[in-house]
Amino acid sequence: MTDMASANDAGPVRLVRNAPVAVIEIDNPPVNATSQAVRAGLLAAIREVDRDPQISAAVIACAGRTFVAGADIREFGQPPQEPHLPDVINAIEACSKPVVAAVHGTALGGGCEIALACHARVADPGAGFGLPEVKLGLVPGAGGTQRLPRLVGLEAALDLVTSGRTVKAAEALRLGLIDRLSSGDLRRDAMELARELIDQPLRRTGELNVDAMNAEAASEGGADVRRKARGAEAPGRAAELVLLSASLPLQDGMARERETFLELRASRQSAALRHAFFAEREVTRLPGLDSIEPRPVQKIGIVGAGTMGSGIAIAFADAGFDVKVVETGEQALAAGQARITEVYDKQVASGRITAAARDERLRTIGYAVGISSLSDRDLVIEAVFEDLDVKRVLFRDLDAILPPGTVLATNTSYLDINLIAAATSRPADVVGLHFFSPANVMKLLEIVRTDRTAPDVIATGLSLAKRLRKIPVVCRVCDGFVGNRILSRYRLQAEYLLEEGALPHEVDAALEAFGFPMGPFAVSDLAGLDIAWARRKRLAPTRDPRERYVDIADRLCEAGRFGRKTGAGWYRYTGGKRQVDPFVTELVEEASRRRGLTRRSVPAEEIQSRIRAAIVNEACKILDERIVERPLDVDVVMMHGYGYPAWRGGPLFEADTVGLGPILDTVQERAERDGPGWDPADGLVSRAASGATFYP
Ligand code: 3HC
Repeated sequence: MTDMASANDAGPVRLVRNAPVAVIEIDNPPVNATSQAVRAGLLAAIREVDRDPQISAAVIACAGRTFVAGADIREFGQPPQEPHLPDVINAIEACSKPVVAAVHGTALGGGCEIALACHARVADPGAGFGLPEVKLGLVPGAGGTQRLPRLVGLEAALDLVTSGRTVKAAEALRLGLIDRLSSGDLRRDAMELARELIDQPLRRTGELNVDAMNAEAASEGGADVRRKARGAEAPGRAAELVLLSASLPLQDGMARERETFLELRASRQSAALRHAFFAEREVTRLPGLDSIEPRPVQKIGIVGAGTMGSGIAIAFADAGFDVKVVETGEQALAAGQARITEVYDKQVASGRITAAARDERLRTIGYAVGISSLSDRDLVIEAVFEDLDVKRVLFRDLDAILPPGTVLATNTSYLDINLIAAATSRPADVVGLHFFSPANVMKLLEIVRTDRTAPDVIATGLSLAKRLRKIPVVCRVCDGFVGNRILSRYRLQAEYLLEEGALPHEVDAALEAFGFPMGPFAVSDLAGLDIAWARRKRLAPTRDPRERYVDIADRLCEAGRFGRKTGAGWYRYTGGKRQVDPFVTELVEEASRRRGLTRRSVPAEEIQSRIRAAIVNEACKILDERIVERPLDVDVVMMHGYGYPAWRGGPLFEADTVGLGPILDTVQERAERDGPGWDPADGLVSRAASGATFYP
């Protein structure tokens, strides 16, 4: 066996000659992205395979943790450099000798496109396949929209390309995307298949036919994709390209695809989504914390088995932790256990997990009455009633029974964690872990450090987030932390809009058109109006009387309308569907009369720009107060916890593109009308004056 570096000696692609089947190995850590050097190396290696009479077939495999994870996203801001990926991939397909892809880890984007162009594919059973380009505001740019339908049919290709989802190897096999699952030794199995294909007619994906979809189904499918995309451009464009594969020869389809790819690559939406991609990774790196070792955590205690506590228990059990849930009495404990079991039963019923996996996870969750059984835990998190005194008493009691070094976490959404920590003799061990409901689904985790939280406790929070596959944002204490603090501001602004003439469904529709999955009133019905009501009552004594206050939500609560769970809130619910309720319209109109306002029709653009201004201003105050260190922390919170459209890049990234001047004008106008809470943030004023932006 001889090795040959096919591009240059230090290159990331090498050709291992191993007659009759050569291996083309890509080694470009961390994820084998197709940088210019990889593309050049791959092209040279394929040419060598074609040319060398000693080689009869080849396997493309990758070193490290994964197959090729796609184009190198970091190159997207620069002019494209030759050789271009579509040309490399076409050369693979055109090779006169069989080429087999050996896939482990994930074959994503350009990586999946390389696999599609090979003459056969073998995958490790744990491997995944996907064309996630739409998540970066792009369409596949190297034949994905044209070759995938040729292998799996139009319907499956439409689903995969427009959702960007990753399919596991077993599903890929069922769809016809791959030919075989490896039985253990991936390279050996791929070489075996390559050997079988020698002297057989080659099955070139690009030469396969695609059956056209009937025109009506195709146009319905396209419309459905655009509706679900909520303003994101890429999914609709990707759908059009996939449908074209039925009528255009491969090369023509690929030319259209490339044109669209290059157009979208230069778009604002793609820049925003790339920002979102890197920001999600950057939040985990906190200046000053890189060298701090987290505390070892495996045994988790959860106090409180309500909706939040149960969700948190499931999140930890799913990630392989040993979980113990405690409640104050047998009845509450049984209710919590039933809640957790029900969630898993539903997952089995929908096919998300197997019954065996459910049983396994349920076995890792123990239940007990009283906190005394938590003394062997490495981390205890409370999810009890949102009341400062209740939490302080609980933390004092936990402090008495937990050994030194145990991390004490609170899931409070608003309360002052400094005061909770002060109830213990070890405030350095206390941290906020603010999960979002449902805690086993939502990706965001706010890690709240108090004035005294030890650095290794923050590092422990970050390492837990990674194991839970959550996106953590570290922040300091303030009322509502990052997300809920911003939310309460823009919810207030939404209520002012009601008094001025809009109705709840109009505000929601304007914000859903903006790209939020749900408007604030629909969200509030889903979350329940009672929690915010309790908070308003708690804060009433400290409310600034000069601040404009709208009491419609209080009146809804007084009428027993707590949202979906009571069948009515801002809307009325029949059969789970929200409906405009004349009762609410009447309350809203009456609120306008009391305020002495003549109702007017409020345009959607005004609703959107006022809500955006409210978000940006509060976000900027959060930065000014150093509750978080970086604009990207706020953007990640808003995208992952509150549905701010990722294709806008989060509020601060978007503010830079909209321009801070117009946003400041809106804020100043609100400050004059709505009270001192709307004063412009210092950082907004100074940036707008100097022409600075949030991002360089
Ligand atoms: N280009 C450049 N860098 C990439 C990259 C890519 N395609 N994919 C991942 N990285 C980097 C990450 O930024 C991260 O860098 P860091 O350590 O400096 O933060 C590092 O690789 C590791 O990534 P993760 O932390 O995300 O590692 P995971 O193991 O959790 O996930 C992954 C690995 C599933 C591959 C995930 O990184 C991922 O989803 N990557 C993006 C894949 C993608 O979108 N591919 C399509 C690109 S577009 C394309 O291919 C166009 C084509 O059609 C022409």
